[in-house]
Amino acid sequence: MNSIPFVPVITIDGPTASGKGTVSTRVAQALGWHVLDSGAIYRLTALACVQQDVETGDVDAVAKVAQHLDASFDAGNVYLSGKNVTEAIRDEQIGLLASKVAAYESVRAALLQRQRDFRQLPGLVGDGRDMGTVIFPDASLKVFLQASAEVRAQRRCKQLNEKGISANLASLTADLQARDEHDKNRAHAPLVAAVDAHVIDSSNLSIEETVAVVLDLWSRQNN
Ligand code: DC
Repeated sequence: MNSIPFVPVITIDGPTASGKGTVSTRVAQALGWHVLDSGAIYRLTALACVQQDVETGDVDAVAKVAQHLDASFDAGNVYLSGKNVTEAIRDEQIGLLASKVAAYESVRAALLQRQRDFRQLPGLVGDGRDMGTVIFPDASLKVFLQASAEVRAQRRCKQLNEKGISANLASLTADLQARDEHDKNRAHAPLVAAVDAHVIDSSNLSIEETVAVVLDLWSRQNN
């Protein structure tokens, strides 16, 4: 009889620009595991709505877009209907629209299995808002990564500047606070730490230090 292999999962949830994307990628690299950037899936849904002229206030129409999303991921790149949209989905406006459509229960339901399908051997690091609470409640290790709004806005500003995009710190802070409020206060799968999550404040930690904390939690748990 074939038994289904157990695939370990580490979840890293947290607010926008908390560093969870980079930390998740580095933890996955260190362990030789797969990584799921679940925010990219909501961003792809938002971008697909814009491209298809779908009104983002129309819940049923957005859910249909989510159900039929032709998304693929390869070597850090993200594709929508075969077109590389890795940069396009990072736009702040797409982030805000992603936060809007992510509040719809039918959209979340349409994207649930697509996210669980990333759980493949030898393991998965899942990055998002509800990885530890809804998508992978049986994860072996759950982390909730937070940092002050000021630090997060500064990090985002630096990222944009490095790409040659000028950014205003005050408006970035306002945008990310608005998105956090929306993500925290929605009725379905709100941004909240799982009860069994390790909460890490990375305000005063470098990426390397944060990765080391997560890997240390993982190795302690397995020794
Ligand atoms: O992580 P991110 O900034 O790329 O995510 C974009 C938006 O998608 C975020 O504001 C809320 C939503 N999201 C979500 O609701 N659940 C997730 N697991 C990941 C992202």
